[in-house]
Amino acid sequence: MLLLTIETSCDETSAAVVRDGRQVLSNVIASQVDVHARYGGVVPELASRRHIEAISVVVDEALEKACITLNDVEGIAVTRGPGLIGALLVGISAAKAMALALDLPLIGVHHMEGHILAPLLEREIEFPFLALAVSGGHTHLYRVDGIGRYTTLGRTLDDAAGEAFDKVAKLLGLGYPGGVVIDRLAAKGDPGAINFPRPLLHQEGYDFSFSGIKTSVLNYVRRQGEPISGDHLSDLAASFQAAVVEVLTVKTLRAAEAAGLSRIVVAGGVACNSGLRASFAAAAAQRDLLVHFPAPILCADNAAMLAVAGDFYLSRGERASLDLNGAANWPLDQVGPARS
Ligand code: KG4
Ligand code: ZN
Repeated sequence: MLLLTIETSCDETSAAVVRDGRQVLSNVIASQVDVHARYGGVVPELASRRHIEAISVVVDEALEKACITLNDVEGIAVTRGPGLIGALLVGISAAKAMALALDLPLIGVHHMEGHILAPLLEREIEFPFLALAVSGGHTHLYRVDGIGRYTTLGRTLDDAAGEAFDKVAKLLGLGYPGGVVIDRLAAKGDPGAINFPRPLLHQEGYDFSFSGIKTSVLNYVRRQGEPISGDHLSDLAASFQAAVVEVLTVKTLRAAEAAGLSRIVVAGGVACNSGLRASFAAAAAQRDLLVHFPAPILCADNAAMLAVAGDFYLSRGERASLDLNGAANWPLDQVGPARS
């Protein structure tokens, strides 16, 4: 099936063309970073407006890059949620309009389902596997028994990992989005320079907490009494990143061991982080583990990632009606047959 997929849940307008839920023919991403950077975070109303301006152009470009026309498309998958409701509705409205005009089957896909199945666009990974989903809004550990079969094993009790990166970057005056900047600075710093806390590391269970690390960074910065720069700033970035990475790695490995899972997928924007990649690579080398990180373009928000689940559901006859609505909050383990 030749699928057109659309993602507008946050600050990226994206459209992709994917064959049979595996072969990516195009994956166009229009970032809105320039719009939101001056506010230090995503402004929902501005995000919706920018999606409206970009959606047709992005869909046209995705079709063009895939060397097809709209008439070749056999189905449409769109992010139904979770995300910013106004932003989601732009993608959903565009998808519904095309589905109606061309009489095409339509399906709504969960944003995190897209993220954790994105690795299947690159290689086959046998089920079951453990998925660590780390983005700006999520830090969740899921047991994945198949497409549509997810069990939450743990989740953040406060900030998401990406949110912690963004907030720390903001308080250090490093701009938005912060994850990339901290990652880059951390590469030049000493991760052992400052000992930030590792919240819940020794606690039972697989929940996370990142707001405490962020507060520790804030207190550290205040104690200095003067702006932090140069090597000191790199050391701070490296030490903060090391704390987040250690908690994510150790708890994920513990969950994998307890569940008897030898395959791990790490997905979402924070999966671009080089420290996290290195930490899991080292762990995998010591154990009999397969750890898969998608390529960075498939970790960040993109439409192609929706195709794995979209193709699966459409192929088994599931359809969203033209009443399909956005779902700002939608727990992944509640994805079910009703998709409208
Ligand atoms: O998945 P994503 O693109 O959007 C959401 O669904 O939230 O994730 C965005 C998050 C942001 O918080 C961003 O700072 C973070 O991913 N991020 C990173 C890196 N690249 C993006 N965090 C740490 N290191 C990176 N290299
Ligand atoms: Zn995302």
